[in-house]
Amino acid sequence: MRIDVLTIFPDYLSPLELSLPGKARAKGLVEIHVHDLRRWTHDRHNTTDDTPYGGGAGMVMKPEPFGEAFDELEIGEGDTVIFTTPSGERFGQRKAVELAGKQRLIFVCGRYEGIDQRVMDHAREIAQVEEISLGDYVLNGGEVAALAITEAVIRLLPGFMGNPDSLVEESHEDGLLEYPTYTKPPTWRDREVPEVLLSGDHGKIAAWRHEQAVRRTAERRPDMLARFEGARAD
Ligand code: 6GU
Repeated sequence: MRIDVLTIFPDYLSPLELSLPGKARAKGLVEIHVHDLRRWTHDRHNTTDDTPYGGGAGMVMKPEPFGEAFDELEIGEGDTVIFTTPSGERFGQRKAVELAGKQRLIFVCGRYEGIDQRVMDHAREIAQVEEISLGDYVLNGGEVAALAITEAVIRLLPGFMGNPDSLVEESHEDGLLEYPTYTKPPTWRDREVPEVLLSGDHGKIAAWRHEQAVRRTAERRPDMLARFEGARAD
């Protein structure tokens, strides 16, 4: 997979050079290029935004630097351009799995007030487009979202994880939150590990974990539990 990131804050993406994505990079599973959008500006101040037509607060990102960047990066059919924006669809594990199957992702990080709409309209003509939000809260820009989505996607690439079972079993893949986990010692500050986990009875352990996952999901994410039960009924 190849990932390009277009941003006015390239330093914000430096974690991509480290740990998890760094490992995928070293293994040759992914190639990541972070680009400073200002490279495609031509004025003295490297301007990337301007006042909104029709008035209103804040600034809007100008279309021209994006257009030149798309041309130079040869974005085309088969590529997926991801605009990270609070007005996008909410990101989740299902979308991460879908994106992990793509050949090339191009993240376009907008600032909160947004990008000239014609950039998205143009992108839809030359490539596949996704507009994605991390959730219902406001960040200053889309950089953190690009980081989060990249990490969620990269760890799903075949060959990234040592043990693919841990991918399947973990939170969200099966529509439930993770059950509580324990390790040694068996007693810590007067707290015991639940007895069933020490019983060696794998059937009983699986049943206990499932029950715990359902209880936790009902308490913390009733919306998820409703979907889980809906999927079961199908
Ligand atoms: Cl993708 N961008 C911004 N600016 N705020 C957000 C977001 C994205 N996702 C949640 N909040």
